[in-house]
Amino acid sequence: MIPSQRSIRFVLDGTPVAVDDAPPSTMLLDWLRIRAQATGTKEGCAEGDCGACTVVLARRDADGALRTEPCNACIRPLASVDGLGVLTVEGLGGTHPVQQAMVACHGSQCGFCTPGFVTAMAARLATGPVSDHTQACEALAGNLCRCTGYRPIVAALREASDTLHPGGAAGEAAGLPAWVKALPAPEAAPLAFAAGGVEWVSPQTPEAVDALLAETPDAWLLAGGTDIGLWVTKQLREPRRWIRLGAVGALQVREATATGFEIGAAVSLADAFALLRADHPELDRYWARFASPAIRASGTLVGNIANGSPIGDAAPVLIALGARVVLRRAGDDGPLMRELPLEALYRDYRVQDRAPGEWIERVRIPRRRPGQRVIAAKLSKRFEQDISAVSLALSCELAQGTLTGVRIALGGMAGVVRRAPAAEAVLEGAAPELETFARAGAALAADFSPLDDMRASRAYRLAAAAGLLERAWHAWNGDGPAGVDDPALDALVRGSLP
Ligand SMILES: Cc1cc2nc3c(=O)[nH]c(=O)nc-3n(C[C@H](O)[C@H](O)[C@H](O)COP(=O)(O)OP(=O)(O)OC[C@H]3O[C@@H](n4cnc5c(N)ncnc54)[C@H](O)[C@@H]3O)c2cc1C
Ligand code: FES
Ligand code: FES
Repeated sequence: MIPSQRSIRFVLDGTPVAVDDAPPSTMLLDWLRIRAQATGTKEGCAEGDCGACTVVLARRDADGALRTEPCNACIRPLASVDGLGVLTVEGLGGTHPVQQAMVACHGSQCGFCTPGFVTAMAARLATGPVSDHTQACEALAGNLCRCTGYRPIVAALREASDTLHPGGAAGEAAGLPAWVKALPAPEAAPLAFAAGGVEWVSPQTPEAVDALLAETPDAWLLAGGTDIGLWVTKQLREPRRWIRLGAVGALQVREATATGFEIGAAVSLADAFALLRADHPELDRYWARFASPAIRASGTLVGNIANGSPIGDAAPVLIALGARVVLRRAGDDGPLMRELPLEALYRDYRVQDRAPGEWIERVRIPRRRPGQRVIAAKLSKRFEQDISAVSLALSCELAQGTLTGVRIALGGMAGVVRRAPAAEAVLEGAAPELETFARAGAALAADFSPLDDMRASRAYRLAAAAGLLERAWHAWNGDGPAGVDDPALDALVRGSLP
């Protein structure tokens, strides 16, 4: 079943490397620091939160286009960078405009976070200019600094942007070393190896995934690894077999048809959000609060659904939009396929309607309907890169003065993300009045009996969810009160910065 053995091969700071002796669960950061002695890349949290370990990944897509993106090396399995270019802070060489700007703007004190900030900024500027303060904050959402303060770092990013993109012009891989631009397409030979009783397999077809999972239903199916990586670094767990989905070309499907969006299991969160933007630009601010650029570049939309966390941010929106998941597993006469509404996948906390060996091939999201209105909001303690306490998404149509097709889904209110039938019933067929939204908010107490935990109390979650529904009404009527998602408050909080 396992394809032919070969080395893990990638380009590190311009030099091709072949690794034969790294166990399958080795993370890129550990290999860089311990084996390659590239110690400029730091370890802060080992869970994707602080950005100290940021490197730039470069690759050629199937169509030959060059992609560059930030990556948290601490939770990125080494074998998953096979075929890619890895640019570390050492590889930037000290001459990148962000490095010059960090010096000029006094963007560093102890310096521990600095390599991660520099590589995150280099990755961002490689894709185009940073033209306003919100963009700068979004670019740095995955990086923490405990001593300098963010103002000079943001200033350095803006200054470097002006240097690299005079007049706001974009250029491919701007500012990155020449070897990145000359990166070849990855070789076609699949990667498989084993060490210490752990296997790594990188199949190339969905049928091969079916067969591998039929053989080992307890294998870890690896998409972006932004959940799984933490099982290794924080829980010190290891699977019998890793099955990586990233090399399965068919799972890269990312298209908008006349009826819906098709998003395959290997499509990153960033690419999925960009696709959905065609119909739902109003979700941009919600998606911008989903993790950080590095996590959105590695993590996948289907991985978020499959992980099935009750506070996962994609599920409320996708359920409100009427998304369906396509499941598959090996059968005697070819794959057994079935399709479910996403809400039907989630049965109970960490319990899903999936047979052993069954996995999610893709998610299908209907196109926007005439008159459809969609709103999504997330409450968390920190604006950037934080886990939701409560999240809510609402979709409905407004026809002849009444609301129809109402779908409300909430995260953080139960063991799974689910719909709110009592609140939906209040809004269905009603006029869109504030008082009706307030009644729908009160009805949430019949839909949910949320948990008390360290993120929020039961009473807070219920009150906050009801408040989010009222905010939906205000937002639609253009008189939104100040809140975490409010542009006026955003400008006030950030307005003191250049
Ligand atoms: C710092 C940080 C910040 C984060 N912030 C957020 C946030 O703001 N909001 C949020 O919702 N999440 C957040 N996450 C969680 C995570 O990034 C997302 O859940 C992400 O979408 C997971 O996708 P992945 O491709 O990385 O999944 P992986 O880690 O590869 O897999 C996750 C799980 O899904 C399974 N799986 C993957 N693909 C499939 C498939 N096709 N079929 C069946 N099972 C599959 C895996 O086996 C595993 O059990 C954050 C994570 C980190 C580390
Ligand atoms: S070490 Fe903190 S994000 Fe990787
Ligand atoms: S400079 Fe010390 S943590 Fe940022």
